[in-house]
Formats: sequence, structure tokens, C-alpha cells
Amino acid sequence: MPEATAGLDRLRHFIATATRLATPDGLAQSPELQAAFAALIAHDDWLPEACTAPHPQYYQQYLLHCDPLERFSIVSFVWGPGQQTPVHDHEVWGYVGMLRGAEVNQRYTRGADGRLAPWGEPETLHPGDVERLSPQEGDIHRVSNAFEDKVSISVHMYGGNIGAVSRHVYDPATGQAKPFVSGYSAPSVPNLWDRSATVRAALPAPGH
Ligand SMILES: [Fe+2]
Repeated sequence: MPEATAGLDRLRHFIATATRLATPDGLAQSPELQAAFAALIAHDDWLPEACTAPHPQYYQQYLLHCDPLERFSIVSFVWGPGQQTPVHDHEVWGYVGMLRGAEVNQRYTRGADGRLAPWGEPETLHPGDVERLSPQEGDIHRVSNAFEDKVSISVHMYGGNIGAVSRHVYDPATGQAKPFVSGYSAPSVPNLWDRSATVRAALPAPGH
């Protein structure tokens, strides 16, 4: 699949940038990282088809890449019509980049009575928009597909192996937290590493 391989160049290039910015201890959010992520999200020609499939009941979270030291991971979030997350947190930083359709992000904050209340107005992300999440600044939110009649897709990056992070979902009425580990929606990841078509194309012609 030469087309798919060409598209994956963008993702591989971004992963290389993020890996260079990481230290042995981790990867921090930075303007440089955010700009590189925004550049990836600015194009919609690279996400493999297998990572765009919705489920009739549940939003899907496909792993695109996890750093070998689990310093960061990249996933595609696929929203079926009308689907939404529970109110949840992350325990690690994140960037959310909108690829197709639109999603609505409602942040929550804990009041003096212990309950969770919406914090600020809901924000709608459109293709190319990037949202930053930070546990230090408050990252409890609920995310919904903005559409009742079509699929939306966003690409997320997190400062850890997000599918294996122990985090929380919340009952907003009581503020009660429940442990939550999201996992991933598929057992495989895209093959980013078959660059043979490019290498083959650069071979000298036979007989030279
Ligand atoms: Fe989230």
C-alpha cells in the first residue's frame, strides 16, 4: 500500500520529533511539541483506515504509537453519532487535535460541596484545532461528538501510555471518583516502518 505508507510519513516524522524532544525521564509539554502536533493535525491524509472505524455503541480509541519507554502515546478517537465520554481525568498531560467532524469539550471543577460542576462554557473543536490538557491546571472533562448524525475523529497525544494509565471517571452529581483504565480498541498498531517503497525508488537503475 504505497499511498498508506506515504501518508504515514507524517506520523512517523512527528513521532521522531517527539522522541528527540523527550529526555530519559519523560516528555514535557512545550510550544515546540505543540507546534509539531498542530502541523500533524493540519493534514487529514495520513490516518490509516483501520483506525477510523466507529463502533455502534462505544467511542473507539485506537493506539497509533506508544513510545518504547512509555513517555508518550498517540491515539485516534473515533466518535460514532451522538457518542460521549463519561466525566473523566487523565493523570498525564495531553493534546487533543481535531481531524474530522467536531467535538465538544466541557470542563468540570469540584465545588466546595464536593460535587463536580461545569467549568466555563463548552468549547467546540473544529478540524485543525488543538486543545491542551494538564492535570496541574485541572483536566476533568467530558467530551462529546458534536454531531448526532455523523462520525467525528480526533487525534490525541498523552504524556504516558494512556491506555494503561490508572485514572478516574466521576459521577458529577456526587463528585465520587471510580478507578478507570481505558485500554485500547484494537490489538494492533499501524506499521510505520515499511519504508521499502521509498528506498526501492532510490535504487540505481539495473545495469548502471
Ligand atoms: Fe479526556
